[in-house]
Amino acid sequence: MDGTTTRLAVVVGSTRPGRRGRAVADWVAGVAAGHDAVVTGRVAVEVLDLADHPLPLLDEPVPAMFGSYAHEHTRRWSAAVDRFDAYVFVTPEYNHSLPAALKNAIDHLYAEWDGKVAGVVGYGVQGGTRAADHLRAVLTEVRTAVVPTQVGLSLFADVDYAGTDPADPTATGRLAPRDHQAEALGALLDEVVRWAVALRPSTAASRSA
Ligand SMILES: Cc1cc2nc3c(=O)[nH]c(=O)nc-3n(C[C@H](O)[C@H](O)[C@H](O)COP(=O)(O)O)c2cc1C
Repeated sequence: MDGTTTRLAVVVGSTRPGRRGRAVADWVAGVAAGHDAVVTGRVAVEVLDLADHPLPLLDEPVPAMFGSYAHEHTRRWSAAVDRFDAYVFVTPEYNHSLPAALKNAIDHLYAEWDGKVAGVVGYGVQGGTRAADHLRAVLTEVRTAVVPTQVGLSLFADVDYAGTDPADPTATGRLAPRDHQAEALGALLDEVVRWAVALRPSTAASRSA
């Protein structure tokens, strides 16, 4: 990987035991691995899992936009996020919105998101669209450019529950996205890569400032 490689993180936006989020993120990373930009080495993809970066509810005395972090957990999260030029956020819908853990993780930082590019993959009963809408608004506020194309996985049509008890609330099924979902994800990745390359001079400048 050289200085021109675009670094893309697939952010796992849920943290609860038994979550579907990691499977969705692994699917996103798998589709991305077959994308031309990754195959040719122009883009490098990693999964960035919130579960690996446990954060308390925001406990920084100074708002993140002032760039003064008092706590080691914030500095660790900052370093983990700042390594990337672009993100695909994988978010479920929790009560019409994004998970509190994801909102909290975004709120901890500011400059690390500023001028970067993001795409949104939602999932839920209706594709997680309401969570995705809220996440877009939050990301816009921290100056992340969110591409228009979005993926919304259905908990019914994109999950295979064969062999599980429909009455069991812990049965997560096996993620089985329909073919058009991978196509939509490909279009989303096209946009993320194109925008990230276009914004690279501005993110590089803010890194060296
Ligand atoms: C607290 C909570 C609230 C939820 N609210 C919604 C909702 O408003 N709309 C929806 O489509 N699904 C809702 N669901 C279903 C989740 O989208 C589904 O369980 C999904 O798998 C959660 O993501 P996770 O498994 O990665 O935690 C909710 C689930 C939880 C745990």
